[in-house]
Amino acid sequence: MKMIKSGVAVWPLALCLSLLVLVPVFAQVGPKFQSGMEPPHLLAGPYLQNPGEDSMTVVWLTDKNTTASVEYGANGLLDQKAVAIHAGLIDANTRLHRVRLTGLKPGTPYQYRISSTEIVKFGPYSVTFGTNVTSPPAAFKTLSRQSDQVSFVVMNDLHQNLQTMQVLWGFAKVNPVDLVFFNGDSLDYLENEDQIVKFLLQPVTGLFAQSTPLMYVRGNHETRGRYARFLHDFLDTPGGEYYYSFDAGPVHFVVLDTGEDKEDSHPAYSGLNGFAGYRDGEKQWLAQEVKSRAFRSARYRVVFMHIPPFSAREGRGRSGGAQDCFEKFTPLLNRAKVDLLITAHTHHYAYLEPKPGEHDYPMVNGGGPSQEGATLIRLDADKQRLHLTVTQGDGVILHQRDYPAK
Ligand SMILES: [Fe+2]
Repeated sequence: MKMIKSGVAVWPLALCLSLLVLVPVFAQVGPKFQSGMEPPHLLAGPYLQNPGEDSMTVVWLTDKNTTASVEYGANGLLDQKAVAIHAGLIDANTRLHRVRLTGLKPGTPYQYRISSTEIVKFGPYSVTFGTNVTSPPAAFKTLSRQSDQVSFVVMNDLHQNLQTMQVLWGFAKVNPVDLVFFNGDSLDYLENEDQIVKFLLQPVTGLFAQSTPLMYVRGNHETRGRYARFLHDFLDTPGGEYYYSFDAGPVHFVVLDTGEDKEDSHPAYSGLNGFAGYRDGEKQWLAQEVKSRAFRSARYRVVFMHIPPFSAREGRGRSGGAQDCFEKFTPLLNRAKVDLLITAHTHHYAYLEPKPGEHDYPMVNGGGPSQEGATLIRLDADKQRLHLTVTQGDGVILHQRDYPAK
């Protein structure tokens, strides 16, 4: 009782003290703006990732900590706005921005532009905003399972050769393309953000990725270097892993992550690689994947692996990562009625006819990274056929093939 009385007695005093503290706090609440400053700059992007029937991820990098939003809409309008929210907080005060657009309509063209406003001061009760940067409007089209057609191209083993990337894209863009795959080793290794920006993000943004999604397949070189563990921050994939599947038109795509090419115990990895166990988990995922309705009901099934599990050179053996991929992935793929396996890594173009019992499907292996040895692998799928064209860096067509629809 005494305590209650005491509490009542001190209440007016506590209220006054609270007000003394809160008044200056409330006086600061609300956004502030500071003008006349150098605006933030786009270091890379916007580029498109993880396309879906009803969704698309827009990624960009600014040179200062900013907010991030995407204005977008159909029919030439920018009448909707998206932000990224994690645990109730809108992403802000960062330089790398990933915003997922959802609720889109399949097979529909959209326009979009990004907007980032600098955060000059991020106080607990008041944020001061600076100036803003926006991108010019760009456009993309959502994927559609109902569509009878899809076209995609594959570059591989660019090894930071921007000239090769540019030349191959010159061949690709002659006809419309829905997706661009980089089948590994686009980079030599990962040292820092600047390297990813200069040799990957800026060039793909400039060439195609503002309007055509970049589909990333990790190569063994992209597991190397101090910054390799941060590469995924710049990408977005279905399911968030480097191995994933998705549908586009009549094609079901499976992307596998083949990891490193040598055993985990190799001295070059200094005991920091664990790909054997990682591939065990991936094998479990693949076992479920090939049983999925999307896989089984697709008109065409195309699989990507950076490291080829089969050699084009007779008698050439397998070891390390290639052997592990061969043992863990290929038995599942052989039973799965795959139409085409697309590989890379050897820097030599090769085409392998199906070899029953070993690989019941054909395999095409891209060359690179020099312009003379590089290849652009193109596939155009429609109701009747999946058409393959392999073009060498000098423009010579090396191979064409039709795979009939099932
Ligand atoms: Fe490689």
